[in-house]
Amino acid sequence: MNVNELARQTAMDFKNGSSREPRWIAAAPGRVNVIGEHTDYNDGFVLPMAIERYTVIAASPNNTDRITLRSTAGDGVVTVDLAQPLKPGPKGHWGNYPVGVIAGFVARGVKPPGFDAVFNSTVPFGGGLSSSAALEVATATLLEAATGQTLDPVDKALLCQKAEHEYAGMPCGIMDQFISVMGRESHLLLLDCRSRKPELVPMSDPAMSLLIINTNVKHELTGGEYAKRRAECGQAAMALGVVSLRDVSADMLERARGMMDGTVFRRARHVVSEIERTLHAAEGVRASNWPTVGQLMYASHASLRDDYEVSCPELDAVVDIAGAIGPGGGVIGCRMTGGGFGGCAVALVRTESVADISARLASGYEQRTKIIPSLFVSRPAAGAAVLKG
Ligand code: GLA
Repeated sequence: MNVNELARQTAMDFKNGSSREPRWIAAAPGRVNVIGEHTDYNDGFVLPMAIERYTVIAASPNNTDRITLRSTAGDGVVTVDLAQPLKPGPKGHWGNYPVGVIAGFVARGVKPPGFDAVFNSTVPFGGGLSSSAALEVATATLLEAATGQTLDPVDKALLCQKAEHEYAGMPCGIMDQFISVMGRESHLLLLDCRSRKPELVPMSDPAMSLLIINTNVKHELTGGEYAKRRAECGQAAMALGVVSLRDVSADMLERARGMMDGTVFRRARHVVSEIERTLHAAEGVRASNWPTVGQLMYASHASLRDDYEVSCPELDAVVDIAGAIGPGGGVIGCRMTGGGFGGCAVALVRTESVADISARLASGYEQRTKIIPSLFVSRPAAGAAVLKG
């Protein structure tokens, strides 16, 4: 379903629930990260793209001081009373993401009007494709339409990140919200997470495709592992006397090996090497040097599996099977993508072989894990937009 079809569907869902047309409709995409994993909160580089999977929100004013939020995925109605101080709801509830964004607008002195809203999404939930960022950024985009106040894109991404920290309890970096706001059709985004400067990297060679393989093993990042990795990176930076691991070279780290615990050293080695790989991969994409990009993707996966320890047997299985198909079968590179512990892998493949590769990956994966995966190809998509309003 493309974004316009999803918008039409959401408008219909809205109308069915409230017998009127939505006044505003906004959409925000999920993302896949091509390379640069667990580098964003270390001031490093990331290279994601927005995907053709979206969260859409349709809403109309209700002339009250209340906002009601409904998701077509079920789970009741969330009501926000704008006359009261806002606070997070029960841990793990989807409503925390939009409510956190509404709170961010209120905190900036931009009070939204009361409205009724319906959400719909084609970003698989908990699949490592930033369903949460899509939900936050779609909400922020709708609020821009409803208040007439357009935020600077960097401020908008940061407001959404804050919502995730404070309302969902997930200490994420800035990658997901940035790409959902700033994605561009036919481009990857090389983001310097220190300066927050985005640079578009064209990726429109029709001979190459990015294939996304969902292991259908749910990933749960609000669990403590993500926060633990962040803390270990902080410990490494402290031992090295730097602000963040962005300031560390591979040599510097090797020389300081004895100054830190072995696990902390390996975490830092992943981050330092991944930042390098990301810059090389961006150069590779610019030069259409696909074999190099593919090798960097495999190296990224090995580092996430062995040094950062955020992979899982199912993700490793996908990458193994992809590697066995190899360049002869049209697979150039493959790695886990997103926070890890389940979710998705991404493979760089020859477009002409997509059908064959998908069939081989799906059957090999099912044989090894007894789980049926979901696979789809996405072109790099545009970032969030107001579709009506
Ligand atoms: C999650 C976070 C991002 C980033 C990735 C790992 O998706 O939300 O900020 O840290 O994990 O690269």
